[in-house]
Amino acid sequence: MSRIFCIANQKGGVGKTTTTVNLAAGLAQIGRRVLLVDLDPQGNATMGSGVDKRALPLTVYDVLLESASVAEAAQRSESGGYHVLGANRELAGAEVELVGLERRNERLRDALKLVAEEYDFVLIDCPPSLSLLTLNGLCSAHGVIVPMQCEYFALEGVSDLVNTIRQVHANLNRDLELIGLLRVMYDPRITLQAHVSEQLKAHFGDKVFNTVIPRNVRLAEAPSFGQPGVVFDPTSRGAVAFLDFAREMVDRVSASTPPAAPPAATPAQAAASDR
Ligand SMILES: Nc1ncnc2c1ncn2[C@@H]1O[C@H](COP(=O)(O)OP(=O)(O)OP(=O)(O)O)[C@@H](O)[C@H]1O
Ligand SMILES: [Mg+2]
Repeated sequence: MSRIFCIANQKGGVGKTTTTVNLAAGLAQIGRRVLLVDLDPQGNATMGSGVDKRALPLTVYDVLLESASVAEAAQRSESGGYHVLGANRELAGAEVELVGLERRNERLRDALKLVAEEYDFVLIDCPPSLSLLTLNGLCSAHGVIVPMQCEYFALEGVSDLVNTIRQVHANLNRDLELIGLLRVMYDPRITLQAHVSEQLKAHFGDKVFNTVIPRNVRLAEAPSFGQPGVVFDPTSRGAVAFLDFAREMVDRVSASTPPAAPPAATPAQAAASDR
């Protein structure tokens, strides 16, 4: 069964897409089967995976409107070694079209159920808003990864997001939990960042990932080559940090996954134990 994670933060430009693409590629490098779902009409995660958003025959839009399955619409990221359910500007229209449809919040969840055996991880790159698209992501997921910069206003934004996660958990998706806060674009020389980082740890404890992603220009250059940073320059500090993060995620997931239930007894065994 796949584990499904949303990478979300309603604030724009905080590193959601960079996190999604590099975590996908990092997990693929350590042998995991990964599907990246681009839920943002900007299509940055699609392009950053080396898949041309303008040439896609089918996208996540078709999946949300039930005119295609995930298996039909997914493409392979050759550079990243994972699959991509891509997006482009067409997806902006889905927001309006979904409003009048049945199970409008659960459309992505229903579609992903059919490929649960194909992937170990499904990573959903959310747009910078708490829209119907983001809600579809949150209703599909087991957990949320929140990338954030250690800046003063970031703390306020995170409280809003944590409240949204609580509400979705209470009303729409009992599986959903906050997996962790990921400090990104971090520069320890900036005193304010170190200070906010300490505040985060004091307030959120072990919900703050141990791995810290540094500000690193190689991560910002990689998308223009259609490659995840961990592939584009594997020795860069940013790439090394994202590989560490992929390992940390695998450890967290295996620690939180309950052991598989023992196989049910056959009728003959059950009869024997009754004797
Ligand atoms: N660790 C980093 N070091 C340097 N640059 C980074 C890093 N992470 C992201 N960036 C750059 O910061 C910008 C914003 O990052 P990104 O697109 O990942 O954010 P986002 O949260 O997905 O944005 P949006 O809200 O628009 O979807 C991009 O130009 C990206 O290349
Ligand atoms: Mg983005």
